[in-house]
Amino acid sequence: MTQEIRLDGKVALVTGAGGGLGRTHALELARRGASVIVNDLGGGRDGTGSTLGPAQSVVKEITALGGKAVANGDSVADREGAATMVAQAIEAFGRLDIVINNAGILRDKSFSKMDLDDFDLVVKVHLLGSAYVTHAAWPIMREQKFGRIVMTTSSSGLYGNFGQSNYGAAKLGVVGLMNCLKLEGQRDNINVNCLAPTAWSRMTADLMPPEAAAFFKPEAVSAGIIALCSDDAPSGMILEAGAGYFSSVSIVEGQGVGLYLDASAELVSEKWEEIEDMSGARPFNAAPEVANAIITKYNAGL
Ligand code: NAI
Repeated sequence: MTQEIRLDGKVALVTGAGGGLGRTHALELARRGASVIVNDLGGGRDGTGSTLGPAQSVVKEITALGGKAVANGDSVADREGAATMVAQAIEAFGRLDIVINNAGILRDKSFSKMDLDDFDLVVKVHLLGSAYVTHAAWPIMREQKFGRIVMTTSSSGLYGNFGQSNYGAAKLGVVGLMNCLKLEGQRDNINVNCLAPTAWSRMTADLMPPEAAAFFKPEAVSAGIIALCSDDAPSGMILEAGAGYFSSVSIVEGQGVGLYLDASAELVSEKWEEIEDMSGARPFNAAPEVANAIITKYNAGL
């Protein structure tokens, strides 16, 4: 039988943990023994307003179950706020092992109608917020030679969604952040992964049929978070999780065609079918591998 994953002695910071997925992540981390910093700005779905109430109420739930938690009401989109929540982890529990970048807002509109302030804010919360919190935690994790970081991406960024250009851009941005940090963290046992959840929450309540609430439960996603934070966690994985289904998403590159140095736009257009053929497609672990693969093919005259 698989050994139970325990997180005793570990300290986890979960952003946006006052409700929805962040709340169930925080509860599950605490149930498995981690001490938790429950961060939540406590504003509306569009990011307006703030109150400590939601973070405090999740702290109460955790402590009622015998766990350890403290509340933080800072915004991840604020550099100082991000540094403060990390400092609070050290102050309250002496270390920081796990960061779950989960906080998020929506400001959906078709691109032609979108105010750039709405674009900025969504990118600020999802992408920059993940970078700010991770940047504050990074030196601590490097020093202790252990860290588990999860970014929350979305199928809207991975595949696109009408009316979510700001959100989609930010959500694929965190995948790029992960791809670089998985390499930079490798030496110090800092594993960085992405979660692409599907769950019924206040963010998606009006986008899903009401009966979906019964099976798209946030709790069913949080099992994935624990697996991504365990000692044996992978690094660089994009884990799709919803209603108890888990799958891995990967960016892959096709074998392509060699048109050599006299390639023309006409030849490229003529070859779309071969260029788009994804049989034999493969992922790369780091950017230099792409140039190396081209050099190898070029030298072999392929
Ligand atoms: P939610 O709206 O219930 O939770 C988001 C939480 O983040 C809220 O409690 C909110 O107060 C907090 N928050 C917002 N801005 C903040 C800030 N600047 N600083 C700190 N906290 C802030 O939504 P849900 O569904 O639980 O979303 C969690 C994450 O999962 C988000 O990143 C979302 O984009 C992502 N996601 C959710 C999906 C779903 O199906 N529910 C699908 C794909 C991604």
